[in-house]
Amino acid sequence: MSLFTIDQKKCKRDGMCAKECPAQIIILTEKDAFPTLMENSEESCINCGHCAAVCPHGALTLSTMPLAECPSIKYDLLPEAGQIRQLLMARRSIRFYKNRVVAHDLLEELIDTARYAPTGSNKQQVQWMVFENPAEVNRLASMVIDWARFMLPLTPDEAIVEKMESRIAAWDKGRDPMLRGAPHLIVVHSQADLPFAEADCVIALSYLELYAYAKGLGTCWAGYLTAAANFHEPLAQALGLPRGHKCFGAVMLGYPQYKYTRIPKRNAPVVTWRK
Ligand SMILES: Cc1cc2nc3c(=O)[nH]c(=O)nc-3n(C[C@H](O)[C@H](O)[C@H](O)COP(=O)(O)O)c2cc1C
Repeated sequence: MSLFTIDQKKCKRDGMCAKECPAQIIILTEKDAFPTLMENSEESCINCGHCAAVCPHGALTLSTMPLAECPSIKYDLLPEAGQIRQLLMARRSIRFYKNRVVAHDLLEELIDTARYAPTGSNKQQVQWMVFENPAEVNRLASMVIDWARFMLPLTPDEAIVEKMESRIAAWDKGRDPMLRGAPHLIVVHSQADLPFAEADCVIALSYLELYAYAKGLGTCWAGYLTAAANFHEPLAQALGLPRGHKCFGAVMLGYPQYKYTRIPKRNAPVVTWRK
């Protein structure tokens, strides 16, 4: 089966599909020719769909993605730059959550949105693990505390030791300084040896975090859990990631208890402008 088909009645032979193809495997053999696939190049296709998505005439259909599964962009729904900037600046890490679970459909929607994040060579190998049960999240937090207790005598850095001690003390007093009593935890993982696996996971989780904020939810990266996930056997077992996979990030998630009213100041960016 051919990689793509061209509807010759719709194609205007403008060459946009060929120009936009990142693998440069679509060619117009001569001016005014219909686009064709370069010989023996099917394996170079990264299935990014750009050729079909850029064509304004709906003339090109990839065998892997029927046009019916590639919806038109609703330009009228896109927020203005000012709105996006406000969203990016106003998002905060949330450490106090309401005692309320997030509906399964909404959790699905978050992940369904995050899967549009870019991935190296469009590999799309980011995988998700969603903890829906708050009691299970609390059990994971207790394992992160166990890991901290284990690490304490092995950690040479005084500052880290102090931080860990204070978190352990907080846990012993009935608080959860690791997963903040969040009702949910979302873990991203991927095959560890895949190029850009970590970047893919982190970008996808950032997409999810921003969309979660837009939906009235709060998130906070779970750094300690992420560190422990790949080293602390009981936690690794509780997560049960597929063989060869690594946890590259995790966020706590839930409805925030408090609403922020201001945007805290951040450092001026350190930029080297090369002109
Ligand atoms: C990789 C990473 C790991 C983090 N781990 C934790 C964590 O374990 N616990 C926590 O309370 N906050 C954690 N945070 C949240 C940061 O402390 C927070 O992003 C930072 O203080 C800035 O606040 P803001 O996100 O509200 O702008 C983490 C953030 C990142 C990016």
